[in-house]
Amino acid sequence: MKAVTWQDKRTVSVEEVPDPQIKQPTDAIIKITSTAICGSDLHLYEVMTPFMEKGDIMGHEPMGIVQEVGSAVTNVKPGDRVVIPFNIACGECWMCKQGLTTQCEITQVKSHDRGAAFFGYTKLYGHIPGGQAEFIRVPHANFMAKKVPEGPSDERFLYLSDVLPTAWQGVKYANIPEGGSVAVLGLGPIGDMATRVAMHHGAGTVIGIDLVPERLARAAANGVTVFDLRDFEHDPKSLAAAIREKTNGRGPDSVIDAVGMEAHGSSTAKTIQTITGMLPDAAAQKLFTTVGIDRLFAFNSAVEMVRRGGTISVSGVYAGQADPISLDALFDKQITLRLGQANAPFWTPEILPLLTEGNAFDVENFATHRLPLRDAAHAYDIFQKKADNAIKIVLKP
Ligand SMILES: NC(=O)c1ccc[n+]([C@@H]2O[C@H](COP(=O)([O-])OP(=O)(O)OC[C@H]3O[C@@H](n4cnc5c(N)ncnc54)[C@H](O)[C@@H]3O)[C@@H](O)[C@H]2O)c1
Ligand SMILES: [Zn+2]
Ligand SMILES: [Zn+2]
Repeated sequence: MKAVTWQDKRTVSVEEVPDPQIKQPTDAIIKITSTAICGSDLHLYEVMTPFMEKGDIMGHEPMGIVQEVGSAVTNVKPGDRVVIPFNIACGECWMCKQGLTTQCEITQVKSHDRGAAFFGYTKLYGHIPGGQAEFIRVPHANFMAKKVPEGPSDERFLYLSDVLPTAWQGVKYANIPEGGSVAVLGLGPIGDMATRVAMHHGAGTVIGIDLVPERLARAAANGVTVFDLRDFEHDPKSLAAAIREKTNGRGPDSVIDAVGMEAHGSSTAKTIQTITGMLPDAAAQKLFTTVGIDRLFAFNSAVEMVRRGGTISVSGVYAGQADPISLDALFDKQITLRLGQANAPFWTPEILPLLTEGNAFDVENFATHRLPLRDAAHAYDIFQKKADNAIKIVLKP
C-alpha cells in the first residue's frame, strides 16, 4: 500500500510499504477513505525528530471502511463505515472505565514510562503505524472502530478522530461557567473548534488569539472576539491587559491553550529546539529530559491573562521534561490547571449524536484543503508554513 512516511526533519514522502495484517484476534484492518493532518504531526515533522525513525508511518486522524476483522471482533464487520480515534485504548481496563483512555493500562507504553499508545506517534507512544495511508491496523477494534452512519460525507464524521474530542475535552476541562468567558490561545484546527464547542456549551464571551490573519478572520466570522498577537509585540502582559478590558477587568474565567510547544514569541526555547534537531538522536533525547525544550509563550500568556481563581485547560502538546514554569503565579492566582491528550474514544458517544443530527460545528466546511494522499509532502509544507490559507488539510488515499 501507499503511506506517508517520515524521512527526516521536515521531510515526509509517500512510499510503497507492506499492507498491514491482523496480528491479534482483537484487530481490524480499515481501508482509509479520508485522513487529516494535525498540528501534532507538525511536532514530529520538526521538533520531535530525535524520537522518529526513517520510514515511520505518520497520521492519526483516519476514517474508512472495515476490510477485515480478527476472530474476537464482534462490534464491527467488513463493510462497516468507521472513524478511528487517535488514542489507542482497550475500553475495558480500570482507567478506560474512568474515561481515562489516554492512561489505558493495557496500551500504556511502559518501556518509556508513558501513558497509552497513539497511532503514528513516535517511539514514546508505542511506535504504532499511523493513518496517513491506504490501510491501517486498528488494535482493540471492538472499542476503537467507531461505527458511523452511511450517507453524509466523510467530513461529517472525520473529526471524531481527534479535533472534536480534543476541543470537547479542552472545553470541558476549562470549566467555563454558564454565560462566562473563555480565551482560546491558538486558532489552528484545535483552537478554532474549541471556540465553536465553547459556544455550544454556553460560554457568553469567546475570545481567540493567534497571529495568522486567515485564522483570526475565520474565528471572527463565527462570532469570536479576536486579538492579533502581533499587535502586542508578543508581550503577554499587554495582551492580558487588553483581554481584561473585555472581561470585566478581571480576565477570562477560563483559558484554553491550543498552541503547545511551538509557540511564537519564545526565542530562547526556539534556539534550544533548533539545536536539539541538529544533535544525534541519543544526545537530543537526553536534552529533552534535562532542559526546558518547550516554547512556553502561550502557556505563560494563559497564566498571565486568566482571572484569579480561574481555570487553564491545556490542549496544546508539551514535551520538555524540565520546563521552567512559574508555580508562584499559579499558586498566588489560585489557578486550576487541567491538561493532557484527549481521551478521544471515550468522548465519541457524547459527540456523535450531534453529527448524526446535522452538520454540527459546520464540520463539513471545516477543511480548507482536500488533497490526494500522494501530495502529502506539499500538504505538510503548506500546513507548517500556514501558506495558501491552509488551516485543515484532509488527504484522500
Ligand atoms: N491534547 C490533545 O489530545 C491534542 C490533540 C490534537 C492536537 N493537539 C495539540 O494542539 C495544538 C494545536 O493543534 P492544531 O492542529 O490546531 O495546530 P496548529 O499548529 O495549526 O495551531 C497552532 C496555532 O497556534 C498559533 N500560535 C502560535 N504561537 C501562538 C501564541 N504565542 N499565541 C497564540 N497563538 C499562537 C499558530 O499561529 C497556529 O494557528 C498542537 O500543540 C497540537 O499538538 C493536542
Ligand atoms: Zn491530532
Ligand atoms: Zn484500557
